[in-house]
Amino acid sequence: MSRATNVLETRGLRAGYRGIAVVHDLDLTVAAGEVVALLGANGAGKTTTMATIAGLVPKLGGEIWLDGRAINHRRPHKMVSRGLGYVAEDRGLFSQLTVGENLRLGLARGQRRGGSRRARIDEVLGVFPALEPLLGRPAGQLSGGEQQMLAIARAMLAEPKVLMIDEMSLGLAPLIVQSLLPVVRSAADRGAGVLLVEQHVPMALEVADRVIAISRGRRELEVSAAEVRANRELIEDAYLGRSHQD
Ligand SMILES: Nc1ncnc2c1ncn2[C@@H]1O[C@H](COP(=O)(O)OP(=O)(O)OP(=O)(O)O)[C@@H](O)[C@H]1O
Ligand SMILES: [Mg+2]
Repeated sequence: MSRATNVLETRGLRAGYRGIAVVHDLDLTVAAGEVVALLGANGAGKTTTMATIAGLVPKLGGEIWLDGRAINHRRPHKMVSRGLGYVAEDRGLFSQLTVGENLRLGLARGQRRGGSRRARIDEVLGVFPALEPLLGRPAGQLSGGEQQMLAIARAMLAEPKVLMIDEMSLGLAPLIVQSLLPVVRSAADRGAGVLLVEQHVPMALEVADRVIAISRGRRELEVSAAEVRANRELIEDAYLGRSHQD
């Protein structure tokens, strides 16, 4: 696959903390329109990989391309304007600010002005109608599921080229996760590349086109989700088997 169609690509990525790598030599691609599930046991390096792509953890080596451009993270706060949406494990909401204010912060710079801004918020509220009656409420007073919807809605507002969601189902009832899956799918169908970390593997497989499994920071397996669905042992060996050791 050419780099032009890959909205996200890492080559030989090394990442970690205080100079010690926990992610080693990681090659990863996400194409426009594709949902890639990044799987791995606790501590495998999924969050570190995402945080490094977002520039929140300095990379130790390798390269990262976003929408065909190498990124150096000299200005991590510019990542939204560069087309990256990131729903971190902690969701990163401003709990004192209202739902509406949190949403407005998700708009990219150019979108904050002009009439299209309200239209864009309305469009995203159409995807998450449950947020509409909560617009005036502080984000800290929402339930876990509502907060997750808000975090994803905020990330989608800027129409990111790449949407990364860490632990999508954390703390959510299966029914709510089921309702989020079509949202993730529709973001990809509208042209975004989605990188998804989801502990609940069957849920991830429901929405993913491709699976990348990592173990102790190294890529273990990369395979289409259809192949995984057809051959469950493949992923169970590579992913679930390892989780006992970690
Ligand atoms: N801030 C940090 N400082 C030092 N080490 C860290 C830090 N955050 C994570 N680590 C270590 O880096 C490794 C990878 O952690 P990471 O959070 O990326 O795993 P993960 O795959 O997201 O796990 P989980 O499924 O539990 O969220 C682990 O060994 C972890 O202990
Ligand atoms: Mg994690």
